[in-house]
Amino acid sequence: MSYRMSLFRTIDALSSCLDFVGIDDVMHGKRVGIMAVRVAELLGWDEDRRQTLLYAGFLHDCGVSTTDEHGNLVTELEWSNADNHCKRGEKYLNEVSLFAHMAPYIRYHHTRWEDLPKKQVSQDVAEMANIIFLVDRLDILRAAYGPAEAFDNREQFLSVIRKYSGRLFCPEMVEALDKCSHSEAFWFSLDPQMLEMHIREQSMLGSKLDINQDNLRSIATMFAHIIDAKSHFTADHSVRVAQLSRYIAEGLGIDQETCAGIEIAGYLHDLGKLRIPDAILEKPGPLTTVERPTMKRHAYDTYEILYRLFGDDTIALWASFHHETINGEGYPFQLSGAKLPFEARIIGVADIVQALVQNRPYRPSLPSAEVMTIVDGMFNAGRLDERVVNFFRDHLQECWQMAGGVD
Ligand SMILES: [Fe+2]
Ligand SMILES: [Fe+2]
Ligand SMILES: [Fe+2]
Repeated sequence: MSYRMSLFRTIDALSSCLDFVGIDDVMHGKRVGIMAVRVAELLGWDEDRRQTLLYAGFLHDCGVSTTDEHGNLVTELEWSNADNHCKRGEKYLNEVSLFAHMAPYIRYHHTRWEDLPKKQVSQDVAEMANIIFLVDRLDILRAAYGPAEAFDNREQFLSVIRKYSGRLFCPEMVEALDKCSHSEAFWFSLDPQMLEMHIREQSMLGSKLDINQDNLRSIATMFAHIIDAKSHFTADHSVRVAQLSRYIAEGLGIDQETCAGIEIAGYLHDLGKLRIPDAILEKPGPLTTVERPTMKRHAYDTYEILYRLFGDDTIALWASFHHETINGEGYPFQLSGAKLPFEARIIGVADIVQALVQNRPYRPSLPSAEVMTIVDGMFNAGRLDERVVNFFRDHLQECWQMAGGVD
């Protein structure tokens, strides 16, 4: 089976997930993509190259999962560990055949222009990476201002950038950026509403591709790694939920195509967690009444992103219903009974089991017997599906190990 999806829309949705890490500072990737293209237009780059640059700009910070690391991105022009997120981003992109060509651009997007020759990269890589670095840093300088104030303060930002021309940044690019920055339109087009309009227009124009299940699985896995990297308490969570869900689905005799869809939904189920501040995700004690909805909202955020990607396709629904329960006491839609698809019930059980097997800030990993007792308790309370729980009971040891349990 393949999914007819717009590559632009897919990358846009991924970029929106990355925006979640910024919590309040959103759309950084999109601004970087759009500004980079403006500079490239002035430099006379052809359309194909500009398109790739736009995508690379949207995804350039895919190696950043924690709000702490994001803090560095928005306060410093250069910082000592900048290379870490570049290397992670390179690794993630290399794992997806549709995105692998962008990996070297992301690898060097915080490397000084004067250091690039030592890295022995091609001219194309050096230029792509440096144009992203340049506008990325401009966006950081501009971040504290609205579009009108940014235009007004442009000379101040440009004077900082010019100081680094030839060292951090390619001189021709600095010159082109300087020219771009004289127009009001350059700044006003970065306004969130304008960006949204521009992106909507692009996604209507962009051609659609048939993305096969293997490609989709690799994109979903890439995002699972980004989500799981957010906290060491959630390392491997999405990957294990996906694998355990598939194991249960296959064991219950579900056809292979649906099993593959369940696995993909498993990888994506906690996308919304990227928005939860690290301090809440890693809190050792109970959450306050304000923190609890922030935590719960992740399932709805998953839905919003996946709806943009898949529309009402089952994958979006299976993934976002993972905290729904049969008795209607789950969240965020409070679905109950027949409204809760069987596939989502499988992911729901896999999610609970994996979370119980994992060390959490407030308790250690639980042994299989204790996991079984808790799952039984939830089943008796009318929350979980009988067939799924029976399968889990019959294959307790295998499921527990697959969830990460070690004897
Ligand atoms: Fe970056
Ligand atoms: Fe969740
Ligand atoms: Fe989860």
